[in-house]
Formats: sequence, C-alpha cells, structure tokens
Amino acid sequence: MTRTDAVNEAVSTLSGDEGDATRAGPSSGEAAVRTVVVSLENASVAVGGRTIWSQVSLEVQAGQFVAVLGPNGVGKSTLLKAVLGLVPVSGGRVTVLGQRAGRGNAAIGYLPQRRAFDPGTRIRGVDIVRLGLDGDRWGTPLPGWLRGAKGRAARARVAEVIDLVGAGGYAHRPIGQCSGGEQQRLLIAQALIRRPELLVLDEPLDSLDVTNQASVSALIQQVCRSQGVAVLLVAHDVNPLMPYMDQVIYLAHGGAVMGPPEQVITADTLTMLYGTPIDVLRDRAGRLVVVGQPDAPTDHRLPR
Ligand SMILES: Nc1ncnc2c1ncn2[C@@H]1O[C@H](COP(=O)(O)OP(=O)(O)OP(=O)(O)O)[C@@H](O)[C@H]1O
Ligand SMILES: [Mg+2]
Repeated sequence: MTRTDAVNEAVSTLSGDEGDATRAGPSSGEAAVRTVVVSLENASVAVGGRTIWSQVSLEVQAGQFVAVLGPNGVGKSTLLKAVLGLVPVSGGRVTVLGQRAGRGNAAIGYLPQRRAFDPGTRIRGVDIVRLGLDGDRWGTPLPGWLRGAKGRAARARVAEVIDLVGAGGYAHRPIGQCSGGEQQRLLIAQALIRRPELLVLDEPLDSLDVTNQASVSALIQQVCRSQGVAVLLVAHDVNPLMPYMDQVIYLAHGGAVMGPPEQVITADTLTMLYGTPIDVLRDRAGRLVVVGQPDAPTDHRLPR
C-alpha cells in the first residue's frame, strides 16, 4: 500500500465512509452513473531528475468541483500539467476522459498560472475570449465550421460564454483596463468556449480580493453544475471555496490525499500526510487555518 493509499484509507475510516476517499462522490448528491474524467493510478512525476510527488492515486468524476491545495512548490501546477500531458509521468498512469493524458485535450479548458495583462494592453476582452476558439493552444487545427461564413457561429458562441460568466458589461473594453476579477471572468470564458468536459484552472483566485474570490468561486460552481463540467482548480486558500467545492486534493510532502474538505482538512489527516504534527484551527469568522506545515510558512492565508 502506498502512503497516499494509507492516508486515503485513514480518511475514509475516520469519516466512516464505505469507500476509498479518492472515490467519494459529489457532496451535492449521488449520481446514478459516475463517469471518471481524470484518473491517476500510482502516478509519479519527476522534473529535472527530482521526484515532485509519487504514487498518487485519485479520481475526479464528471461534474465534480475539485480544489487542489498545498504549499508553494509542492507540485500543484505539475499535477495539472500531468493531467494535460504537458509533463510526463515517471511512473504509474494518468488517464483523462478515457484516454492517456494529452490525447483528449480538445475537451479540456485550461487557464495557466499567473496571467497578468499590462494596463496598456489594448486587445479587447471579447478578442481574448475568441482566442480560445482561434488560438491553436492544443495543436488542434481550427475546426472548419469556424472559418469563413461560419464565423457568425463563432461570434455567437463568444457572446454566449461572455454572457455565461457575466462579462457583458466590460468585454468590449481593452483587457488592460479591466479589473483583476473582470480579467479572470474573461479568461474563464476563454477556457469554456470549446465546451470542455474538464476545466483546469491554475490559481484563478490569485490576486483577487475576498469578495471577488467568492464570486468567481460561485461562478465556477455554477458552470460546473449547469454545464456538467468537471473542474480541477488550484488554490492557496481553501476558505473562499468551502461553500462551492465538492472535493479536495491536498498535496504535501511528495504525496496527496483526496476527499471531502471536512475530512481532508483535519489535524489527523494532514498530520498523516505531512508525517509531522499539524493543527487545523478555526478563526472567529469560522475560517480554516492550517498550522505547523514544515515546508511552507503558511498554506491558507488569512484574509487580506
Ligand atoms: N521546468 C522545471 N525544471 C525544474 N524544476 C521545476 C520545473 N518546473 C517546476 N519545477 C519544480 O517542481 C516543483 C513543483 O513545482 P510546481 O510549479 O508544480 O509547484 P506548485 O505547487 O504549483 O507551486 P506554487 O504554489 O508556487 O505555484 C517546484 O519545486 C519547482 O521548482
Ligand atoms: Mg503553481
């Protein structure tokens, strides 16, 4: 049994679940038939000859909203890149939408980490969204139906996703003049435009204030529910996500554990994962604070 398996088994034992915590379903209700969108089986990744994490096993189901948490440098972005097939696994297997990672990327919307537009950037939000169709981000040629006269269909789709994320009021402004929250909504619209089955978002809440962290989290949950899209979202602070997400993948100390947040973000589970004593406290506002992590000063930041 791997360490990840051991921790996951402990999570399910603590919670009294019948199954493995990695297989726990959405908290919003039991689906009659579950479809696995992302599966890692004893997967390991090494970058530059150094193992980042190893023997990670987990499953993300269709329509699940899953947050990926953990300290800086633990390999959260690397996990997303392994799912996208951008980083090869050094052991085990990563399967996405029934294919080896990297094969089915036309069905994935991806928002990479740290996107910032210079205030002088003139390109309009609507053009940024359109790039999600026209840009050759995945080595997939632009579908014929989007060229020429069919451009009207493309414009309609752009308008549709802009409406979906509520960006109509500022989509025609230069993106450099949009606020951080507005830019994030437009970038989420870009990631959604090809009707993905899986949305992979690397720190979309980064640099947003607390109000916008909550509203973007709510938007992502709404997309997840209304479009049936599975979401893998990296975050540093679990608190804005608590009302919206279904499951957590917590990466630490070269391993990972997955389960409902109330079962994973506990002193017992994190102590097992880190292999050193960890406390999980609640502040007066009910926010979770993880204390005692050896390889990061803090994980879940206090409100700014
Ligand atoms: N191309 C690379 N060459 C060598 N090491 C790399 C490379 N890319 C990432 N790493 C290392 O892999 C580890 C995991 O990086 P990753 O970006 O996945 O961390 P992260 O959890 O996303 O961190 P953060 O919270 O800061 O975004 C880090 O130690 C990083 O320095
Ligand atoms: Mg990262």
